Amino acid sequence: MFVRALLAASALVICTARESNPPHIVLIIADDLGWDDVGFHGSNEIPTPNIDALAYAGVVLQHHYVAPICTPSRAALMTGKYPIHTGMQHNVIYGAEPRGLPLSEKILPQYLQELGYKTHLVGKWHLGSYKKEYLPQHRGFDTHTGFITGKIDMYDHTNAERGMWGFDFRRDSATVSHDLFGKYATDVYTEEAVKLIRKHNSSAPLFLVVAHSAVHSGNPYEPIRAPEDIIAKFSHIKDRQRQKFGGVMWKLDESVGKVVEALQVNGLLQNSIILFTTDNGGAAAGFNSNAASNFPLRGVKNTLWEGGVRGVSALFSPRLVSKSRIANQRLHISDWLPTLYGVAGGDKSKLENIDGFDQWESLSNDFKSKRSSIVHNIDHEWNIAGITVNQWKLISGTTYQGNWDGWYNCNRRDGEYQIDLVENSYAGQAIAKLGLMPDKSKMITLRDAASLKCKNDTAPIICNPLKAPCLFNIEEDPCEFRNLADLNPDILQQMLTELSEVNRTVVPPNNKPIDERGNPKYWGQVYFNFGDFELSNPDSIDSELCKARI
Ligand SMILES: *[C@@H]1O[C@H](CO)[C@@H](O)[C@H](O)[C@H]1NC(C)=O
Ligand SMILES: *[C@@H]1O[C@H](CO)[C@@H](O)[C@H](O)[C@H]1NC(C)=O
Ligand SMILES: *[C@@H]1O[C@H](CO)[C@@H](O)[C@H](O)[C@H]1NC(C)=O
Repeated sequence: MFVRALLAASALVICTARESNPPHIVLIIADDLGWDDVGFHGSNEIPTPNIDALAYAGVVLQHHYVAPICTPSRAALMTGKYPIHTGMQHNVIYGAEPRGLPLSEKILPQYLQELGYKTHLVGKWHLGSYKKEYLPQHRGFDTHTGFITGKIDMYDHTNAERGMWGFDFRRDSATVSHDLFGKYATDVYTEEAVKLIRKHNSSAPLFLVVAHSAVHSGNPYEPIRAPEDIIAKFSHIKDRQRQKFGGVMWKLDESVGKVVEALQVNGLLQNSIILFTTDNGGAAAGFNSNAASNFPLRGVKNTLWEGGVRGVSALFSPRLVSKSRIANQRLHISDWLPTLYGVAGGDKSKLENIDGFDQWESLSNDFKSKRSSIVHNIDHEWNIAGITVNQWKLISGTTYQGNWDGWYNCNRRDGEYQIDLVENSYAGQAIAKLGLMPDKSKMITLRDAASLKCKNDTAPIICNPLKAPCLFNIEEDPCEFRNLADLNPDILQQMLTELSEVNRTVVPPNNKPIDERGNPKYWGQVYFNFGDFELSNPDSIDSELCKARI
């Protein structure tokens, strides 16, 4: 009797401490996707019916800000902190660079594992790999199938960077999967994700991250690759690079659909939260040898313009109270850690020194955002800084000597939007089975509302952020045409004061010089956790590393 009472009491404690029915959480991360590369933002050029279905049935995250480049953005997602507070603010991690996201940081899958989640990473990591403790399977993921550096060729799965070249594809966290050579990377991720969903025992909650290679460019010999029969669907696009990009995008969209379908077929969808987002803005007009489009936003990936930091994204969940709407809440990618941890039943008092806000109530009920300001980045190496406070955005300095500060891929909205494709897509059909697909006219209304229209009838006011900081009213002028710095000196001064306050909190970047020992040529032409092996005599690099491997 006494024992029973004790058991009942402890069971109660567990129930109140944890969410009784925690949601399955699926993050689908596109790489370098541009604002105008999805149908739901108004583009007719490349249909993305599955992504659109998620967006229309969930909420369109119209003001979701990301970091301008990959490693910092993923670091913010995983830690809930601005990259300036983890030393990750400058550039990406290279495969032969001996650094990673500091091990002092506890990251999202670790928090979720503590709540009983099964955690899987499919696709890209890019948060450090030179020692095994930086790899995803040592940082909270039960499994990882995919790659550890910043990009790969879609078919041969190699990465050429910094004068090095090597294979970068593994399954089950460790096995170098040479057998997958030639298989389209997006298909590998889709199959792995679907397999994990099918095998998942739904008595535990699932945390699945599908971090795509698409639409990042691969290696210089053939940067944009997709199956020829898929590329052929885009023969109406004259620009050959953009045409191939259409093929990459089509495969990405198909993958999203198959994942949503698998969640539905296996009974997980009704209790899922699915976030679709890009890591940063698109690489447009030949930047990075790629062909994304951020139209009508200014700039590209790795710039602090809206085209670099205003990320395409949508959130779907049957748990959202107010669905099928445009979410105008201002969000930053660092918000997902507290938001998802909170909705999973985590104790948020355990989250210390983070920059993110729990935005679940705001998003679900359409309440005011918890944040009014965003630090886009402060990078002393490149001498750039950008912050937004309320409607004002300050930009100081710019990358590439200002060569990527323009507007690209204008007028790409020819053609017709096919709403039937959305209804008939894998995702559309799966969501319809839950009774959550809005009707056609609602979808069209949402799409119109999500298509940015920039007032560009008033004369632009030139901004040269290399000479002086620029100020924009980002609510009225999301395309950053009019630099209001000279017209609003008081606000400019307030923003500069705010920037210098934030600047005081910046920690030094943790970048390291490339380490020749990391060259894949010493490791069977594979990117490897080279830092786990000591080298007493660098002259004997070859033989020592051979020994280390054995
Ligand atoms: C799922 O997990 C529960 C609880 O651990 C277990 O009882 C059940 O047998 C599992 N089901 C399958 C199909 O493995
Ligand atoms: C500005 O307006 C012109 C004329 O309407 C249009 O062709 C152009 O695409 C617009 N530019 C941007 C970046 O919105
Ligand atoms: C931030 O502080 C550093 C010194 O720590 C200084 O070099 C830099 O100019 C400052 N940047 C801004 C934007 O205030």
